[in-house]
Amino acid sequence: MKIFGIVFLYFYLCQSADEQTQRVRTGQVGRSVLLPCLEGPVLTPPLVTIWRKYEMIVVTHNHSQPVSTGHFSVLNDGSLKINGLMTIDQGVYRCETQPDSGPAYGSILLQIAGGLDAVEMDIKPAKSLPNGTLFIHKGTNVSFNCSSKSYPSQSLTWTFEDLINKDDRIAFGNGSSLHFMISNLQPSQQGNYTCRAQNSLSNSTAMKRQELLVYYSPETHPDCSWALISQPNLVHFNCSWYGGYPAPKLQVFLGHRTDGMRTITSLEDTENLEVTLNRTMLYEGQKIKCVAQHIVQRSSEEKSCSFTLTAPYPEGDPLVAALEGSNITLKCSEASSLPPAVTVWQRGEIHESIVPSSKYILAGRGPLYTLTIVNVTKEDEGLYFCWSENALTAKELEVFLTVRSSADNSGAVVGVFISVLIVVAGITLGLLAYSHRDRICLGDILFSRLEEDRTDVMSLVESDEEEVFDETIPRLPPLSNGQVPIPATTLVEIHQIQSSK
Ligand SMILES: *[C@@H]1O[C@H](CO)[C@@H](O)[C@H](O)[C@H]1NC(C)=O
Ligand SMILES: *[C@@H]1O[C@H](CO)[C@@H](O)[C@H](O)[C@H]1NC(C)=O
Ligand SMILES: *[C@@H]1O[C@H](CO)[C@@H](O)[C@H](O)[C@H]1NC(C)=O
Ligand SMILES: *[C@@H]1O[C@H](CO)[C@@H](O)[C@H](O)[C@H]1NC(C)=O
Ligand SMILES: *[C@@H]1O[C@H](CO)[C@@H](O)[C@H](O)[C@H]1NC(C)=O
Ligand SMILES: *[C@@H]1O[C@H](CO)[C@@H](O)[C@H](O)[C@H]1NC(C)=O
Ligand SMILES: *[C@@H]1O[C@H](CO)[C@@H](O)[C@H](O)[C@H]1NC(C)=O
Ligand SMILES: *[C@@H]1O[C@H](CO)[C@@H](O)[C@H](O)[C@H]1NC(C)=O
Ligand SMILES: *[C@@H]1O[C@H](CO)[C@@H](O)[C@H](O)[C@H]1NC(C)=O
Ligand SMILES: *[C@@H]1O[C@H](CO)[C@@H](O)[C@H](O)[C@H]1NC(C)=O
Ligand SMILES: *[C@@H]1O[C@H](CO)[C@@H](O)[C@H](O)[C@H]1NC(C)=O
Repeated sequence: MKIFGIVFLYFYLCQSADEQTQRVRTGQVGRSVLLPCLEGPVLTPPLVTIWRKYEMIVVTHNHSQPVSTGHFSVLNDGSLKINGLMTIDQGVYRCETQPDSGPAYGSILLQIAGGLDAVEMDIKPAKSLPNGTLFIHKGTNVSFNCSSKSYPSQSLTWTFEDLINKDDRIAFGNGSSLHFMISNLQPSQQGNYTCRAQNSLSNSTAMKRQELLVYYSPETHPDCSWALISQPNLVHFNCSWYGGYPAPKLQVFLGHRTDGMRTITSLEDTENLEVTLNRTMLYEGQKIKCVAQHIVQRSSEEKSCSFTLTAPYPEGDPLVAALEGSNITLKCSEASSLPPAVTVWQRGEIHESIVPSSKYILAGRGPLYTLTIVNVTKEDEGLYFCWSENALTAKELEVFLTVRSSADNSGAVVGVFISVLIVVAGITLGLLAYSHRDRICLGDILFSRLEEDRTDVMSLVESDEEEVFDETIPRLPPLSNGQVPIPATTLVEIHQIQSSK
């Protein structure tokens, strides 16, 4: 039953097609099409075949003459081949043979589909890279227009594809062109844009694909920095400019003693450029500069960062005194060095490095470096160095530490006070004695000596505090000729005065 039904349906469809509907053939502009004349195989070879379009004869072919090679050609079985199809070839065709060669195919509607060879794409405002990829600055309002000349009609589709999206349809329409806008273009809209045109008659499609990149320059400024390495005479200069797409171009220039700046690297496409500088190529006051360019940036607004090389200069107090048993902190500041210096503390003439221990506390990572000596003893007295070295050169600050015992210290305070007192008293007495020298009678011996020398006045002061001055005031050697009886425990001050007689 089933099989019978299907066979019946088949015959019904064929019959109705034959009688009521035209057969449809679709050809494409520029191509060729073959319109059959007979339904089945040739029973009697035709002598003459006539083809009509809308009942008007377009070709009459005498089969004893050779097959024509023009726009229309009729083949041996009567079928019509149309070469180089044009839109005006559209129409209803019918053939007839003499003599009748078999069942006729019937009238044929030839439809002409056209275009599609040329899908045109216009993305504005975009610039083209050498490989044909387009790029546009981020934030731009972009116009996408696609057009295709398709006959008789077409549909156009814009799709977008990137790593996440697969052929997302953005716009669709019938018509000769399809246009859409993206305002404020963002990096997420970077990808491949495809315009697909489909002929509504032939269903044939044509498409064009365009890669579009969204470029933007970094928002920050290029950054110059130093990276110290273990060799003191070398340093890494680091220039970086992150956050742009594509990578910027960086180039490093180094000052030259006689002739401005010279480049020491090629122009490199990188976000981070690292250069190793050697002491032999550096000098005080030299400039090092990194110039950064980005394709999105106008050439007039060149961006750069730079340093002026400066030797280290450790500063601090060169003389420090400490009490035995106390803690003393030596200070050194290193603020000017470029590239940054490595600053360390050293001790003694041999510049022995000081390492942290219970005795030494080191602190500071620039600009202030301190060395704390815990529980100072007499052995700690001496020379210390604040040694500062950068890739340019090394400089040191000398610090001399004096250590006093606690006893020394209290004695010294009293001693200084008393010695000042005595000096003042001595000067007063001396001046008094000198101005009244005629009235004072100390004895013949002394004054006769004064008469002889005339130039020296001696102020003699008795003292019980001998030990106090021991360290600071040199004692006069005892006179040997016995002319002046000077006591051993006497402070002597000598003033030079002009002879007044
Ligand atoms: C076909 O062409 C031949 C010679 O080329 C001619 O003899 C003959 O009469 C033509 N037939 C018709 C029907 O015109
Ligand atoms: C074209 O060139 C750009 C930049 O050089 C690159 O990012 C892109 O991947 C290239 N596109 C193709 C399809 O090669
Ligand atoms: C981009 O388009 C928006 C509206 O979509 C408009 O406000 C803005 O001014 C446009 N920007 C430019 C640079 O044309
Ligand atoms: C799109 O392109 C077509 C063909 O070039 C043009 O006729 C049409 O005006 C364009 N549309 C827009 C909005 O630019
Ligand atoms: C485009 O044309 C097709 C039929 O030709 C129709 O179905 C469709 O709705 C049309 N689309 C638009 C956007 O006009
Ligand atoms: C665009 O397509 C090409 C080829 O399929 C692919 O190599 C490229 O990565 C795509 N570009 C983007 C931005 O996704
Ligand atoms: C085109 O596609 C439509 C729907 O998919 C179909 O009905 C029609 O027969 C197709 N035309 C041709 C010439 O393939
Ligand atoms: C240079 O700087 C970059 C980032 O700022 C960093 O990743 C790199 O390690 C630096 N190079 C050196 C030698 O420090
Ligand atoms: C530094 O430069 C000097 C002279 O140009 C060279 O002899 C030395 O090897 C360089 N040092 C390094 C580590 O490159
Ligand atoms: C000296 O320093 C040590 C270690 O920091 C500390 O324990 C001690 O109390 C300090 N002594 C004085 C007198 O400040
Ligand atoms: C300080 O040093 C002296 C001598 O080395 C020692 O006798 C004393 O105990 C030390 N004091 C402290 C607080 O460490």
